[in-house]
Amino acid sequence: MSLCSSAIEKSCSTKTYEDVKDYYGKQLGNTKDLKTSACAAPSKPLPTHLKDALDNIHEDISSRYYGCGLSVPESLENCIMLDLGSGSGRDCYMLSKLVGQKGHVTGIDMTDEQLELSRQYIDFHTEKFGFQQPNVEFIKGYIEDLKAANIKDNRYDVIISNCVINLSPDKKAVLREAYRVLKDGGEIYFSDMYINKALPAELKENKLLWGEGIGGALTWKELFHIAAEIGFCTPRLVTARYITVNEELKNIVGDRKFVSATFRLFKVPQDAVKVKSQAVYNGGITGYEDKLEFDANFTFKVGEAVEVDQELGRILKRSRFADKFSLQEAEKMPCSESSHPIKETIGDPFEFAEAESNGAQSSCSGDNFEGGRCS
Ligand SMILES: C[S@@+](CC[C@H](N)C(=O)[O-])C[C@H]1O[C@@H](n2cnc3c(N)ncnc32)[C@H](O)[C@@H]1O
Repeated sequence: MSLCSSAIEKSCSTKTYEDVKDYYGKQLGNTKDLKTSACAAPSKPLPTHLKDALDNIHEDISSRYYGCGLSVPESLENCIMLDLGSGSGRDCYMLSKLVGQKGHVTGIDMTDEQLELSRQYIDFHTEKFGFQQPNVEFIKGYIEDLKAANIKDNRYDVIISNCVINLSPDKKAVLREAYRVLKDGGEIYFSDMYINKALPAELKENKLLWGEGIGGALTWKELFHIAAEIGFCTPRLVTARYITVNEELKNIVGDRKFVSATFRLFKVPQDAVKVKSQAVYNGGITGYEDKLEFDANFTFKVGEAVEVDQELGRILKRSRFADKFSLQEAEKMPCSESSHPIKETIGDPFEFAEAESNGAQSSCSGDNFEGGRCS
């Protein structure tokens, strides 16, 4: 493959791609070499089914995890999935277990060293999970041009990405391609870093800042703007936490703040008529038998009616969650149940991270920085 695949060749920043490949292919040896850390204590424990999957991943793979969040949504059995920037393959192997033998996971990455490492452990994990044949593959390609990697339209149920899109010089192309290859009703669920105020152009040229994911970090409003332009539903914030940077980086970025945030973006066709709905979670999702924390704003307890905004109603009706929910449109509800306004929702990950860090004891600061990322 050429340096930048043909369709993006003209627009791509060759040096940026080469720098990132060098950083992840040659400079970093393992997770501890990172100079940024999403290490504020996670607000909730990992669900058992995810912990079990993670515990089964080979140490050579998990020790080279460079993600910045937990990019694993719910209800993945039998899903066809794509991981943008799969790195050592930790998340792909975790997903391989969760989708099961009838599902499939493709990891795509542009860095040879990462691909080589991830491919070495396919047989190990196939056996570990008790599968008859592998359900995971790793392919080479650029996430800005999935077509060049032969990825067809409407192929995937779910796409994930963990700390990769912030490394791309063309985020709009990445999300446009994600939209193209998602089935109707599909979603991209991804963790990335965001900045509170944009960096000046000259700092974006800094190789170390870009490689760590903060040189190319968007503001959250930029993400919302791009998502709307492409046609995704409004990004739904799942969680966020502050990123700590080491002294070297702090001297460069000054008082700017960074968060790692997870958003979910759905590709759901618009309904002609928009109505508020009441949604009742019927249970049945592995690991979330009693309640489902769908995002930062909506938690569904089994059997309890929750009033949802029009867009969330559409998502629940048209995505893989459809058979897990009963929905009643507001017009059909008795007035007393439909008259109160829907609650305010939060989309700003800094506001969320601030509230979380006030509620929890932060486990690291600039003074006791230790490289590495929480799951
Ligand atoms: C921060 S690491 C994250 C890896 C993995 N997601 C994880 O959680 O460990 C970024 C990865 O994305 C890959 N990458 C960065 N930009 C890319 C692009 N434009 N196309 C394909 N892969 C890319 C890098 O090669 C690297 O393996």
